[in-house]
Amino acid sequence: MTQNITLPNNHSSLKIDLASLDSTQAMASLLGEWFQSTDVIYLYGDLGAGKTTLTRCCLQAMGVQGAITSPTYSLVEPYTLEKQTLNHLDLYRLADPEELEYLGIRDIFTDHAITWIEWPDKGNGYLPPPSVTILLEYADNLKNGRQITLIAEPDRIEQLIRMRNKDV
Ligand SMILES: Nc1ncnc2c1ncn2[C@@H]1O[C@H](COP(=O)(O)OP(=O)(O)OP(=O)(O)O)[C@@H](O)[C@H]1O
Ligand SMILES: [Mg+2]
Repeated sequence: MTQNITLPNNHSSLKIDLASLDSTQAMASLLGEWFQSTDVIYLYGDLGAGKTTLTRCCLQAMGVQGAITSPTYSLVEPYTLEKQTLNHLDLYRLADPEELEYLGIRDIFTDHAITWIEWPDKGNGYLPPPSVTILLEYADNLKNGRQITLIAEPDRIEQLIRMRNKDV
């Protein structure tokens, strides 16, 4: 399936190799500290590229306890933490973007929510623009290898680089 990635033209990007599932988990922990309230995260990548896996790792790193199911059929899974709500959307099975209205989509983008959206193309016209865009790609030479590209405002990307360097 072709995905149209539309990006604001003043954003920067950062591409990182994730050699294994462990690297994805470590990346998710870092992202968990980097994300800000109200972030809307568009996730792109082929089937099985790791969008749900990355989101699940982020949710766990940010304090969600218990099972985290993929919102493949429910389309939206909200997780309420003490100070914020984390929303995970998977719009792959959405037949018509208008259906998002019936799901009460407007109400989930609050001041204290962070929202991850898989297959955002499917909700075209009914979603707020992304503050962070993530692209996941298979790495040619590694079975469990992936590449992640993060796209956000230049200040945020610089902040992420600083945070990452401190970790290394
Ligand atoms: N480095 C890695 N990062 C993320 N996932 C990995 C990695 N290596 C292997 N995997 C595996 O790849 C699969 C990714 O599946 P996942 O459901 O996360 O993909 P998806 O992009 O959400 O697909 P879909 O478009 O069907 O929702 C999982 O089985 C996961 O264990
Ligand atoms: Mg998925």
